[in-house]
Amino acid sequence: MSPGDRAEEPLAGLRQRLGGLAFGGDYNPEQWPPEVWREDVALMREAGVNLVTVGVFSWGLLEPRPGVFEFGWLDEVMGLLADAGIAVDLATPTSSPPSWLAHEHPETLPLDAEGRRFAFGARQHYCPSSPVYRHHAARIAERLAERYAAHPALAMWHIGNEYTGLECHCPVSTAHFRRWLAQRYRTVNALNDAWGTAFWGQRYDSFGHIGTPGGPLLSGPNPGQRLDFQRFTNDAGLECFAAERDIVRRHTPQLPVTTNFMGAFKHPDYWRWAEQEDVVSVDIYPNTWDPEGQVYAAWNFDLMRSLGGGRPWLVMESATGPNVQRRRNSARAPGRMRVLSLQALARGADSVMFFQWRESRAGAERFHSAMLPHGGTRTRTWREITALGADLGRLAELTGGACDPAEVAIVFDWENWWALEGPNHPSQDLDHKTRVLDHYRPLWGANIPVDFARPTDDLTRYRLVVVPNLYLADHTAADSLTRYVHAGGHLLMSYFSGIVDQHDRVHPGGHPGAFRELLGIHIDEFNPLQPDRTHGLRYADHTGTATDWQDVIEPDGAEPLATYADGDLTGTPAATRHHHGAGTATYLGTSPDPDTLRRIVLDATAAAGVTPVLDTPDGVEATRRHTPDGTPLLFLLNHTPGEVTVRLPDDAPSALDLLATDDTTSTTGPLRLAPYGAAVLREAP
Ligand code: GAL
Repeated sequence: MSPGDRAEEPLAGLRQRLGGLAFGGDYNPEQWPPEVWREDVALMREAGVNLVTVGVFSWGLLEPRPGVFEFGWLDEVMGLLADAGIAVDLATPTSSPPSWLAHEHPETLPLDAEGRRFAFGARQHYCPSSPVYRHHAARIAERLAERYAAHPALAMWHIGNEYTGLECHCPVSTAHFRRWLAQRYRTVNALNDAWGTAFWGQRYDSFGHIGTPGGPLLSGPNPGQRLDFQRFTNDAGLECFAAERDIVRRHTPQLPVTTNFMGAFKHPDYWRWAEQEDVVSVDIYPNTWDPEGQVYAAWNFDLMRSLGGGRPWLVMESATGPNVQRRRNSARAPGRMRVLSLQALARGADSVMFFQWRESRAGAERFHSAMLPHGGTRTRTWREITALGADLGRLAELTGGACDPAEVAIVFDWENWWALEGPNHPSQDLDHKTRVLDHYRPLWGANIPVDFARPTDDLTRYRLVVVPNLYLADHTAADSLTRYVHAGGHLLMSYFSGIVDQHDRVHPGGHPGAFRELLGIHIDEFNPLQPDRTHGLRYADHTGTATDWQDVIEPDGAEPLATYADGDLTGTPAATRHHHGAGTATYLGTSPDPDTLRRIVLDATAAAGVTPVLDTPDGVEATRRHTPDGTPLLFLLNHTPGEVTVRLPDDAPSALDLLATDDTTSTTGPLRLAPYGAAVLREAP
């Protein structure tokens, strides 16, 4: 069922219940004695917490032995939260199966590509195809749903935690993969054709002979097999999610169901997952020391909003300070947590949530920051958290509102990502995330709202569509993008696009097969550059550098837009533009330095007639979101450690800063923002 099939906007009930934005985090009371729970609830109220995620890692405590359930502690916690008016996002604890399952059914532990069994002792240690795992997961989900369906604290469901898309190569997964293939291809000959098994004599005579693309292998794996195994793994995880979702929905059809995404994470195809849940939610952890963390976060937030079709989404987890997953985990600058949290709201979130409420004393994440740190309420973090809770209260009118419609879309497709980064390409250094961020960065810097879209989506509402490295493009994708340009749209596509079909087979007739006519070019050779090589690049009156890759482009209808200034390709096109009536198809056959790419991207937006929200100093973000009744709210966020002045347009009507503690503050002229400071201006409708 897609979210659209459900009667109400799925967050409407939650919104009504909370009376504003959701604020809280993962709450793991099972790590603490009951006297601490009372203190927790009192402090949650002090901070303005109104929603907590409970039970994510509690399977072993709820079901200490197979079929023996102990709900007493959870009953007490749910009761305390209900009494305090704090709503619960209740998790099915199935991302971390109990030790007895691993012990009694070691076959539920996944096998990696080298045939090594994962051990019990961390989390997410289960084979998604295992009927034994699925049986036990369904049972605990059913028991939880039965017990808490009518509980006053229960407000939404959180299925599992961060489905990873772990590839399992065990015999059960192999058999499941064969069934999946048989269903997809019907005949083994169709599979042979799709995978091109004539190459290296890989022809199959029976589905029963096919394995997972595990090792050891003497040479590269079959690309079609690899890609299908990624699709299969995605589907196996999604089946686990859907089974639990259906169980909880049967008990509480009125409550929203989600699972927390990991942002732009490679393995699950979140377009497909988002269709299966009521509301998109995300865990967001930019590195605390990354001066560009806000660009990465903005990209992820725009992606989440797009996955949910533009509707409000939830920040399920973020961090008050450092995570502990990198080699060195620096502290976060004072004030930065607040501005990053406001950024999520500006881009369409209806919540700010953290991992986790109280910092753990033990376990792998005992140094992971929390809302209530080891040092308790005397800490800076606690002061910032309570202040943030108050800020969210001031922004309540925003809840449920939509963002300004974007005029630019970036095409982002998971199957393409998997295929693009597959083995045996002209370059093994194709890094899709980096390339997408490279294209997104200038748009973010210019305050141009961006949506993400699949190549097959209806793109006609966008003035500009940016397509970084769409290596895999079947005929539907090619037709969709071609239609878009023929209808007057502007396209900016970058290298190694339109090369293969859905089976990772090269389109016949020369590159870029799917887009030759649209782009008006031929590419007969690719020239990935060695890491230490760059070439001069002439673009209008600017000279920059080309790095990483060169397509050898022969125009066939397109005109050159940029040329190489040196090297073997001197004078030949590095970028081209092909006109189709009012529409244009611009192609970028290399990876320019950031300044040149910024010029190319922003020239394309200007040519397409795209309007930025506001011109702001570097590092200051301007985004507009509306209240549900249509009142525009302009978010001005200073992501820099220095004070800045933002000039509002001369004709801007006076506006109220909702974050100002003195609510009579109205703003007309230049606006000063403190280091990591923010303003949310309520503009005249
Ligand atoms: C998330 C996860 C949480 C916690 C957090 C720490 O990915 O869902 O359980 O581990 O990271 O950063």
